[in-house]
Amino acid sequence: MIQVENLHKRFGDLQAVAGISFEIAAGEIYGLLGPNGAGKTTTLSMLSGLLAPDEGRIRFDGIDLASRPLEVKGMLGIVPQENALYEDLSAQEHLRLWGGLYGLTGSDLTTAVERVLEWIGLTGRDREPVKNFSGGMKRRLNLGLGLVHSPRAVLLDEPTVGIDPQARLNILEVIRQVADAGTAVLYTTHHLEEAEKLCDRIAIVDHGKVLAEGRLDELQKMVGGEEVLTLRGDFDSETLATQLTDPSLVRVLAKEEGRLVLATLEQDGGRGSVDLLSKIFALGVSMDGVSIEPPSLNGLFLKLTGRQLRD
Ligand SMILES: Nc1ncnc2c1ncn2[C@@H]1O[C@H](COP(=O)(O)OP(=O)(O)O)[C@@H](O)[C@H]1O
Ligand SMILES: [Mg+2]
Repeated sequence: MIQVENLHKRFGDLQAVAGISFEIAAGEIYGLLGPNGAGKTTTLSMLSGLLAPDEGRIRFDGIDLASRPLEVKGMLGIVPQENALYEDLSAQEHLRLWGGLYGLTGSDLTTAVERVLEWIGLTGRDREPVKNFSGGMKRRLNLGLGLVHSPRAVLLDEPTVGIDPQARLNILEVIRQVADAGTAVLYTTHHLEEAEKLCDRIAIVDHGKVLAEGRLDELQKMVGGEEVLTLRGDFDSETLATQLTDPSLVRVLAKEEGRLVLATLEQDGGRGSVDLLSKIFALGVSMDGVSIEPPSLNGLFLKLTGRQLRD
């Protein structure tokens, strides 16, 4: 549905986007995950038709944005990083206005507005001026404005920044629902957990480039497949560590009284920890608890850039 080839954008001396390519299928949520300044908004602005690329090509359903911009824009829903709201207008008025701009009228418009109000949980509060709204409510309305005309592709720029967990959850749920109805979704974020939870595929971006791309499990594999296994119990860590440590399979990360932390290298599709655990059980070690942490995206980002991806 969305095809992006080799996008470039320069601001003076700064190469903000340096050759980004990706494809997003109908019904898919694709995440652009990267720190501030990575080039996410610049990419999204080019896809929205607000900014012309220096180089590269953008197509929606095979239609070229540069040559047929009006046709493409009718298919698009855009949710900008900054709320685009009028303080004195109500949610109802906003949605009717936006729907009208996209050509909806009469009962189609009314139905569309009611559907979106329900999605974003603002039914019942839809006649008050937006200035009465909390930050989360404004954010939800900002999202609704990008959805009212049932776009075939939605572009969202960090739609959950600065809101409470409840409103964030609502927004993520609405996006999932929209994708499940067959819409292609581009979702930019600097939140690792959000990308992990929401996106079907993720591109890790930094300095205007895609450093890695794939489904969560594929990205996790790139970390090197190391899982972290924490064992707690009434055992002698020193002895257990010696009994277990086959240096080609296991690394000891921490070793204290009653607590042993190991990194297991993945083998044969994630059996590292399982094999290790069966070994421990076979030794008859007395244990109170075990936790296994899968390879993380944060680890991958660190590996790719040498930096932490943190909020
Ligand atoms: N209009 C502009 N003029 C000059 N520099 C810009 C402009 N827009 C963005 N930049 C720069 O381009 C880089 C990428 O910015 P942006 O796309 O907003 O990143 P992100 O959305 O990932 O935080 C940043 O270094 C930013 O300062
Ligand atoms: Mg941005």
